[in-house]
Amino acid sequence: MNSLFAKTILCIGAGYVGGPTMAMIAHKCPQYRVTIVDINADRIARWNSDQLPIYEPGLDEMVQAARGRNLFFSTDIEKGIRESDIIFVSVNTPTKTFGVGAGMAADLQYWEKTARQILESATSDKIVVEKSTLPVRTARAMERILFSTQSGIRFEVLSNPEFLAEGTAVKDLEQPDRVLIGSRLTESGIRARQALTEIYANWVPLDRILTTDIWSSELSKLVANAFLAQRISSINAISALCEKTEADVTQVARAVGMDSRIGSRFLNASVGFGGSCFKKDILNLVYICRYYGLNDVAGYWESVIEMNEYQKTHFVMTMLNAMFNTLAGKKIALFGFAFKADTGDTRESPAIYIARRLIEEQADLAITDPKALVNAKADLKDVEGKVRFVEDPYEAALGSHAIAIMTEWRQFRDLDYERVYQSMVKPAFIFDGRNVVDHQKLYQLGFNVYPIGKPALTHL
Ligand code: UDX
Ligand code: UDX
Repeated sequence: MNSLFAKTILCIGAGYVGGPTMAMIAHKCPQYRVTIVDINADRIARWNSDQLPIYEPGLDEMVQAARGRNLFFSTDIEKGIRESDIIFVSVNTPTKTFGVGAGMAADLQYWEKTARQILESATSDKIVVEKSTLPVRTARAMERILFSTQSGIRFEVLSNPEFLAEGTAVKDLEQPDRVLIGSRLTESGIRARQALTEIYANWVPLDRILTTDIWSSELSKLVANAFLAQRISSINAISALCEKTEADVTQVARAVGMDSRIGSRFLNASVGFGGSCFKKDILNLVYICRYYGLNDVAGYWESVIEMNEYQKTHFVMTMLNAMFNTLAGKKIALFGFAFKADTGDTRESPAIYIARRLIEEQADLAITDPKALVNAKADLKDVEGKVRFVEDPYEAALGSHAIAIMTEWRQFRDLDYERVYQSMVKPAFIFDGRNVVDHQKLYQLGFNVYPIGKPALTHL
């Protein structure tokens, strides 16, 4: 069976990164056999069903077309390792919750376990590709494990970080700004790098496939996420100043972003960034800087996270102050729970923090989100009974004192706000944590409107 295919590719870890990335390789390269394995049997069962474990526009179609042809999902990790030429590793590397570096460093236990599994099951030479985001110099640790026996099997470790963003994963994979491949600069390292380049060259122009030494590649991934998050914290810091000075953060961002040296993207002020990567990767960067004694450098990057925490607290304080310093017993509808639009993912979503703070204030919460209610329920399991989860935004808003927009779903922009307003307790408040609705129009309907980084529009 394997001989029908030019290459056999394995991916360990069927998550947000591994699943879509491998589906794209299978889609673009029918000549390769691609298998994805995971220790989580439920997850694999879902990848083999009509209800994929993650929602990404365009993903269902791609998986359905390739599954069973050259894309396979399985729990047999050993067999997968034995039969593959190239192994991508995209198991999770969460922030450590215990011991040295707790709350900061990456927890590499799954990573190390996977390296040992590869060593135990391999019966032929392998190229092992780091797909997960890792601390710089993890490849060295991986090599130490893989080279620790006299098996005669040769392993080459490459770094190939993934830059896809959730909600646009398929597009990002199909037309990446760049594909980054880091290797050892030895003859065999460069040969392995070429083998990986060949895969991507099936659909990515060669001038977008960037090859570097392995440490630069590992570090670049952390730095790219840190820079993106830093832009958001920078504009969010300015949004607080705008609220005090009657400047408008959208206008400021436009004026600043038109400078081609700065650029316009990632300057949307918000209630704060979320997602599984930004905070984790910056904490990781901070930890590494401290490890090397670079305390000032660590402090600089840490402030990006501090600013993000401030932004969430500031949002709750704005709500509290506007609503006469008490939220107790008031009905509040949270519009959106996902960390951004077009995904059901809620990891590190600012909505989690804000929901908890509002519950502490004894507000009566109703949460609505088109894709994230299942995750929202899991995130708020410990406060079960204190919050309702509602499919329909009109129903969530019914009888409420305030709406707080957490996620920039298109649906929320297009609601009939006249109807929403009529169904609410007066004075009715709307706090737009994403600057997505038409503030002037809502104000004219009667709402007291509190955007991010713009003067509030109130009738009070
Ligand atoms: C993960 C990391 O969080 C990120 O840093 C990295 O860049 C890519 O991998 P993601 O795909 O979003 O991102 O994680 P997740 O959706 O949690 O998927 C990881 C998968 O690995 C899970 O399905 C988990 O069951 C699996 N896994 C974990 C294994 O198969 N083996 C293990 O030993 C541990
Ligand atoms: C990010 C990186 O973009 C991606 O390259 C990397 O591989 C993984 O981490 P992701 O977390 O999926 O991707 O989403 P992203 O679009 O970067 O948004 C992250 C957070 O920042 C979201 O909460 C989003 O709402 C917020 N954001 C983004 C803003 O608040 N303002 C902006 O201008 C842009």
